[in-house]
Amino acid sequence: MKAEKGPTCHFWWILAKVICIVGSVRTIDLEYSEIVKSRGSDETAFLLWGYDRKNQEIVLEVQVKKALWISLGLSPDGSLNGSDFVIAGWHEEQVFIYISAVDDLKDGYMTGDWPPEKDESQDYKLMDLKNNDTHSFLRVWRKWFTCDPFDQDIENDTLRVIVIYGESNDLTYTEDHFFYRPTFFLLVESVVENPSKVLSYDLKLNNFPIPDQDTTYACTFLPLPQVSTKHHIIMYEPMIDPKSVDIVHHILIYTCANSTEITFDVGDCYGSDVRFSQCMTPMLGWAVGGEAFYFPNTTGVSIGTEDDPQYIRIEIHYSNFEEIEGIIDNSGIRILYTPELREHDSAILMVGVFTFPLQFIPPGSKHFKNYGICDTSLIPEVLGKPVGDLTVTTFLLHAHLTARGIRIMHYRNDTLIGSLGEDNKYDFTLQQIRNLPGTVTIKMGDKIMVECTGNTMDREGTTYGGPSTMNEMCIGFLFYYPVIEMAACWSLVDINYITEALGQEHTDSLIDAVLNLDSIEWDDELREIAQKAEIECNHIAIAQNRKGERINKTIPALPVSPPTSHACNKSLPP
Ligand SMILES: *[C@@H]1O[C@H](CO)[C@@H](O)[C@H](O)[C@H]1NC(C)=O
Ligand SMILES: *[C@@H]1O[C@H](CO)[C@@H](O)[C@H](O)[C@H]1NC(C)=O
Ligand SMILES: *[C@@H]1O[C@H](CO)[C@@H](O)[C@H](O)[C@H]1NC(C)=O
Ligand SMILES: *[C@@H]1O[C@H](CO)[C@@H](O)[C@H](O)[C@H]1NC(C)=O
Ligand SMILES: *[C@@H]1O[C@H](CO)[C@@H](O)[C@H](O)[C@H]1NC(C)=O
Ligand SMILES: *[C@@H]1O[C@H](CO)[C@@H](O)[C@H](O)[C@H]1NC(C)=O
Ligand SMILES: *[C@@H]1O[C@H](CO)[C@@H](O)[C@H](O)[C@H]1NC(C)=O
Ligand SMILES: *[C@@H]1O[C@H](CO)[C@@H](O)[C@H](O)[C@H]1NC(C)=O
Repeated sequence: MKAEKGPTCHFWWILAKVICIVGSVRTIDLEYSEIVKSRGSDETAFLLWGYDRKNQEIVLEVQVKKALWISLGLSPDGSLNGSDFVIAGWHEEQVFIYISAVDDLKDGYMTGDWPPEKDESQDYKLMDLKNNDTHSFLRVWRKWFTCDPFDQDIENDTLRVIVIYGESNDLTYTEDHFFYRPTFFLLVESVVENPSKVLSYDLKLNNFPIPDQDTTYACTFLPLPQVSTKHHIIMYEPMIDPKSVDIVHHILIYTCANSTEITFDVGDCYGSDVRFSQCMTPMLGWAVGGEAFYFPNTTGVSIGTEDDPQYIRIEIHYSNFEEIEGIIDNSGIRILYTPELREHDSAILMVGVFTFPLQFIPPGSKHFKNYGICDTSLIPEVLGKPVGDLTVTTFLLHAHLTARGIRIMHYRNDTLIGSLGEDNKYDFTLQQIRNLPGTVTIKMGDKIMVECTGNTMDREGTTYGGPSTMNEMCIGFLFYYPVIEMAACWSLVDINYITEALGQEHTDSLIDAVLNLDSIEWDDELREIAQKAEIECNHIAIAQNRKGERINKTIPALPVSPPTSHACNKSLPP
C-alpha cells in the first residue's frame, strides 16, 4: 500500500480554532457501499468504505446532494446521544472540519444536543472534501480503535451510521437531510471466480395468502433441482415479494431424514403435521437485513448425489403485526449452483439455546444474558462413529427483538479460546451471514457457548423463548466442513436451579417451572439473582443428528467473561 497525501487546504474550525490534521495515510480501496435512507423523505445518501485489517484502519466516504456541510456519525444505538461525529464543510470559501462526540459531558451528563461539542481527541483525518455540480463528498480516515471513550470502536459490532447535511452556517438541518442505517463494516467477502457454468433455481412459495395474524410459520416441501451428478450450491439470495417486504422475517431451508413423507400443501411448521418436524437440518438460511451470500471459494453445498436430499422443507416466518389481510406472497430463496465442484462440501450446524421453552428474560432488564452450550463430545456419540475436526468459515447470529448482543464462544478444555462469531451491538434488522476473518477449527470435545444479551426495559411481562418475534431465540448457525450428519447441538438450562434460587418451589414439570416465573414481581435484586443462577446453573446439552435422534447429558456451566475491549493505539500516522 502506498502513502497518499491528504488535501493541502487550510482547515478552519467553525469556532475559529485552527486545527490542522492533515498527514499522509495509506490508500485503502473503497470496496463496500450501501445506500442510506433519509428519515424524513425518499432521499438517499451513499456510503462507501474500505478497511485495512492488518493496520486496523478504515476509510469512509459519504456522498450527499450538494451541501455547505456534511456530517458522518457512528452511533451506538441510532440516536445522537453517545455518537461520534465528524463534520466538514465550507465557510467563506475555506474548508473546515470539526470532530466530536455528541456526548456533551457538561454538568456530568450527556445531553445529545446538536451541534455537538468538539471532542478533545481528534481521531479522524480528512482525506477529501469536494463538490461536483450536484453532489458533495466527504472522505475520512480513522483507526478502528481510537482510545477515545467517546469514539465507537469498529470491529465486530453493527454500528449505526448517521449522515446529516445542511446548507446553513449554523449547522442546523432538517429531517429530510438526516440519513440512518445499521452497518457492519468489517465484512469479509468471499473471493469468487465465476464458474463457466452456473444454473439458477428458485425455492419459493406459490401465491401463499399470508394470514392476518402476528406470527405465522408457513412450511411446505419443494423439490431441489433435478441433477443426475453432483453439483455445488455456491450462492443464495433472498427473493422477497415486494408486497411482503416488511412481513417476511426469516426463510430457512431444511433437509429431512431420508424416509420422510412429504406434502405440497402449505401448513404450520410447528403445528400438528409431523412431516414438517422431521426436517430439522438447516441447509440455507436468511433473515431480515441479509443479502446475497456467496460461499467461500473453497466450499459449496452438495446436491445431486445419492446422499443428498431431493426435497427440502422451506420455512417462512411472517411477522404480520398489523394483521394486514389479503397479502399474497411469493417469497423464497434463489440458489446458484454449478457442476464445477469446489474443494469442500459445506453444511450448517445449529448451536445455542434449545428452542423453545426454557429461555426467559425478566422484564425491566438492561442486559440479561441467556446461555446455550453445544458439547461436541456428544456428536460422535449421537452419530455412533468417530468424528474429525470441523472447519468453520461463516456464521449467522439469530435472536429477536430484545437482543442487543450475541457471542458464539469457543471453549477447549473448558477454557475460552476464541470466537466463532459475535456482534455486541446486534441489530435485529441486519441479520447478515458473515464470513469469519479466517477459519476456525473445532475439535470434538470442544464446547461452543452462545450468549445472547437481551434488553427488556420496555416490557412488562417476562419474555420467553419461542417462535414469535416477540419471544426470544438465541441461535448461532455455523457454516462448516466436512459435512457430518448433524442437525443441532444446543442446551437447556437447569430451570429448577434458577426458579429455586428465586424462592420458588421445585416442580418436576419443566414447563410448570417456567410458567411459575410469571408470578414473580421482578425487581433489581431478583433480576440479579436470576442472572447469577442462569450463569452458574447446569445445562442439559442436547445433540441431534439428521435422523432426528437425540441424546443429552447434564454438564456444568462454563466460565464467562465480558467481551474484552480492544487495546487501542493512540498514535496517528505522522
Ligand atoms: C445519553 O446516554 C447516557 C449514557 O448512555 C444516558 O445516561 C443519558 O440519559 C442519555 N441522554 C439522553 C438525553 O438520552
Ligand atoms: C456528481 O456526483 C454524482 C454522485 O457520485 C454523480 O452521480 C454525478 O454523475 C456527478 N456529476 C458530474 C457532473 O460528474
Ligand atoms: C479463494 O480466495 C482466496 C482469498 O480469500 C484466494 O487467495 C484464493 O486464491 C481463492 N481460491 C480460489 C480457488 O479461487
Ligand atoms: C437414503 O435412502 C437411499 C435408498 O434407501 C440410500 O441409497 C441412501 O444412501 C440414503 N441416504 C441417506 C443420507 O441415508
Ligand atoms: C485441561 O485443564 C485441566 C485443568 O486446568 C488440566 O489439568 C489439563 O491438563 C488440561 N488438559 C488439556 C488437554 O489441556
Ligand atoms: C472479532 O471477531 C473475531 C472472529 O470472531 C475474533 O477473532 C476477534 O477476536 C474479535 N475481536 C474483538 C475485538 O473482539
Ligand atoms: C435426556 O435423555 C433421557 C434418556 O434418553 C430422556 O429420558 C430425557 O427426556 C432427555 N431429556 C431431555 C431434556 O431431552
Ligand atoms: C501504533 O500505531 C503506530 C502508527 O500506525 C505504529 O507505528 C505503532 O507501532 C503502533 N503501536 C502499537 C503498540 O501497536
